[in-house]
Amino acid sequence: MAKRADQYLEMIDHHIDEDNSRVMENTIRLVAGSPGFSCFQGVPELLMEATKHCMTSRSDLNAVLSYGNPVGYQKFLDELAKFLTDEYGTKVSCSNLMATGGSTWAITAIARMFVGTSAPVFVSNPTFNGSIMILKDELHLNVIPVQMDDKGIDTGNLEELLEDIFSSVGTDHVTDNRPYWGMVSLISNYDNPTGISLSPERSKRLVDLGRKYNLLVVSDDIYSLLYYTGDKYLPVPRLITYDDSSDPAYQGRVLSIGSFSKLLAPGLRVGWIEGPERVIQLLSSVPSLLGGSVCHYPSSVLASALQLGLVQDHVTRIREIYGSRLKAVMKVLDEQLPAAFSYIAPKGGYFIWIRLLEEVNVSDLCDLCETKFNVSLSPGHAYYLGDKAENCVRITFGYYEEEVLVEGIKRMCGGMREYLSSLASDATS
Ligand SMILES: Cc1ncc(COP(=O)(O)O)c(C=O)c1O
Repeated sequence: MAKRADQYLEMIDHHIDEDNSRVMENTIRLVAGSPGFSCFQGVPELLMEATKHCMTSRSDLNAVLSYGNPVGYQKFLDELAKFLTDEYGTKVSCSNLMATGGSTWAITAIARMFVGTSAPVFVSNPTFNGSIMILKDELHLNVIPVQMDDKGIDTGNLEELLEDIFSSVGTDHVTDNRPYWGMVSLISNYDNPTGISLSPERSKRLVDLGRKYNLLVVSDDIYSLLYYTGDKYLPVPRLITYDDSSDPAYQGRVLSIGSFSKLLAPGLRVGWIEGPERVIQLLSSVPSLLGGSVCHYPSSVLASALQLGLVQDHVTRIREIYGSRLKAVMKVLDEQLPAAFSYIAPKGGYFIWIRLLEEVNVSDLCDLCETKFNVSLSPGHAYYLGDKAENCVRITFGYYEEEVLVEGIKRMCGGMREYLSSLASDATS
């Protein structure tokens, strides 16, 4: 049965109206998947300076105020291309970019544009519950889960699934407007919920499978620029860089979705799609499909913020904040997480995936943590399609300030210890 929107909001946890990020007394909600208010520090000033710059120095404000260019305000795309080239360390051209209203907007747009009801959509399992909601429950697409392990989406499993269903699905649904046989959706870097990044070997294999089976491969790279290890560390390369245009076998099969939601503020509702020019052109008919143009006004302000170097400074600052939080959280986990449980140490993003024992009832553990220890966790099964879920919980370090976060992790470890002792005493009685 389709889940109701309010159940999803609860699971995605974007609904935060007050700043609780410094409050110890309340339940500490390690489910919160959005930036805490302290990460917005400096953003109002940044936006004021950028708005003033935009409104006083642009000669093309009519392009901002009109329905405008369907792929986005040109100056934004130009500045974004420079920013991404610097930040990713690989060339990004403005002709390969389209402005969006954020990552979830982009996933919806791409799926609506390119995927009909008979085309299979392969989704890494587990995955971001917002994608499950869009692809499965709202668009009613033929969503097929693909296993994951510590190297990311299991390309061997994907290949088996492709071999199994290719001939039965047939190719009648492939048309000029919907030229792909199927789609793959994943978060290849610093995944939500697992924190895992796809290995280079699997990235290459995924691109090869895309070529062999005529797939559009969509990586939600919303966390790609939030990485926290090393001194002069660059992010894990995006999947799209494995679809190299100088390769003789190149077909242009990968899209990379980005967003300013976690880099600046989700309320801006500005993001982008990076992809082959041909695909960007096809996508440019999406705004009318979705009932309107993309947001030229906030993207014009961001164009100025990027031009003035303000976004770059902010991103450097929040990387430091998140990196320090992650270090503090891992220290507590290393000291206090029960030895029977383990966690995947992420190198970026917002999430830590904690593996529990098979005999743990995850819902009971989450209830105990919430009711007795005042800390809420996301049960791993919320991120799975189908019934086969690994026994895990997801915690985030994006929302709370360090001190509260550390307290939350301590409470969680306390709850886990108590749960395990009750399991042990049940077993002996
Ligand atoms: C993987 C993933 N994609 C998309 C989103 C939402 O992004 P946006 O606010 O850009 O729509 C989130 C977080 O909430 C996320 O974790």
